[in-house]
Amino acid sequence: MINIPKGTKDVLPSEVYLWHHVERTARKTAESFAFREIRTPVFEYTELFSRGVGDTTDIVNKEMYTFLDKGNRSVTLRPEGTAGVARAFVGNGLAGGAMPFKAYYLISAFRYERPQAGRLREFHQFGAELYGAAGAYADAEIISFADAFLKNLGLKAVKLQINSIGCKTCRAAYNEALKEYFSPRLSEMCEDCNARFSKNPMRMLDCKNENCKAHTAGAPRMLDYLCGDCKAHFGEVKNLLDRAGVAYTVNPSIVRGLDYYSRTVFEFVSDAAGAQGTVLGGGRYDSLLEQMGEKSVPAVGFAAGMERLLMVIAAENAPVPKDECVDCYLAGMDSAARTQAFLLAAELRKKGVSCEVDLMDRSLKAQFKYADKIGARYVAVIGEKELEEGAAEVKDMQSSVSQRVKFCDLGKLFG
Ligand code: HAM
Repeated sequence: MINIPKGTKDVLPSEVYLWHHVERTARKTAESFAFREIRTPVFEYTELFSRGVGDTTDIVNKEMYTFLDKGNRSVTLRPEGTAGVARAFVGNGLAGGAMPFKAYYLISAFRYERPQAGRLREFHQFGAELYGAAGAYADAEIISFADAFLKNLGLKAVKLQINSIGCKTCRAAYNEALKEYFSPRLSEMCEDCNARFSKNPMRMLDCKNENCKAHTAGAPRMLDYLCGDCKAHFGEVKNLLDRAGVAYTVNPSIVRGLDYYSRTVFEFVSDAAGAQGTVLGGGRYDSLLEQMGEKSVPAVGFAAGMERLLMVIAAENAPVPKDECVDCYLAGMDSAARTQAFLLAAELRKKGVSCEVDLMDRSLKAQFKYADKIGARYVAVIGEKELEEGAAEVKDMQSSVSQRVKFCDLGKLFG
């Protein structure tokens, strides 16, 4: 058999109810914050990501699934959702509509990374983006939204860390300080960091190379270089979170792995989310549209990794609904009874009852075994006698109690 591609996973019917649970919670939370769903293409022109996500990031340099289509255009499977939403926001003239623009998405995304626990090449994100609001309330709303989503999932040990990485103005002075700090260390740092040094020294703080990590430990911190406006903005975000009862710690080392951020950045981390630990990440990105050659519009957003969420739900033993199982299995003992079961099932389904009949020509015993395996709530047995009476022998599979129920009353069992 041909193997599944490395870094991808099947979601099997027996586990999909967990995905449905997370997706339902995501939609419900998004709606409670008045966000509406947006759907954008799985692939975009490569330039969108190289300009949007940034050409000094690992994502753009090493991890994109890029290919030429038959028209010789370079296209890329989306490595994340933000850039596509930005393109849709501009391309559909949404800036001219009601502002703020608030949209959420449930998507698959693709990064050619080294697979490990919680790190896949095809993964899934629940994300949200808010355009048009520059003030701290928007940052606080997005962070509160992310926090409410995780709380609605019943997660308790996921911790919020926030930081500010300033704006263009204060970043310039910070970059100079970083260059001064890294300059004598450069010869001992990796090739990537040497390239980042001139293009975007802050990215050196995000290097995964162990040797480089040791060098970055004592680097200057952005928080000490914030300009007055950025400092005030960060102060207000923290104040609003305090007032809203959203617990956080300030972690000055969060820089995020994408180039478009400014001011507030945040991550929700958990020990149970694999080697990376980050379940959900986001921040403000006021200069993304400008980076893409458009008129700038302030924006803030987040994305959570579905696979990592499911790992944390399992590790924390968070409450999940039971798998949706079959309400009624209709067992027919002979050919005429089987036809009756088939017709009754059609009637019950019209009433919204989930039911199943024998499609494998099995014995009654084998049908019971199967009904048990699929977790059927009731088994309605129909034989020669039942056909004559126009009633089925219905067994409650949990209590094992049986009762006679007229065919026309079967639907009443399911209220
Ligand atoms: P990100 O931090 O690159 O941010 O990804 C967000 C989340 O996606 C991560 O916290 C993680 O849970 C999940 N994730 C990322 N890569 C992988 C992977 N290879 N395997 C499994 N899960 C993964 C963004 O993507 C930004 N677009 C978030 C954002 C939205 N910022 C503003 N708006």
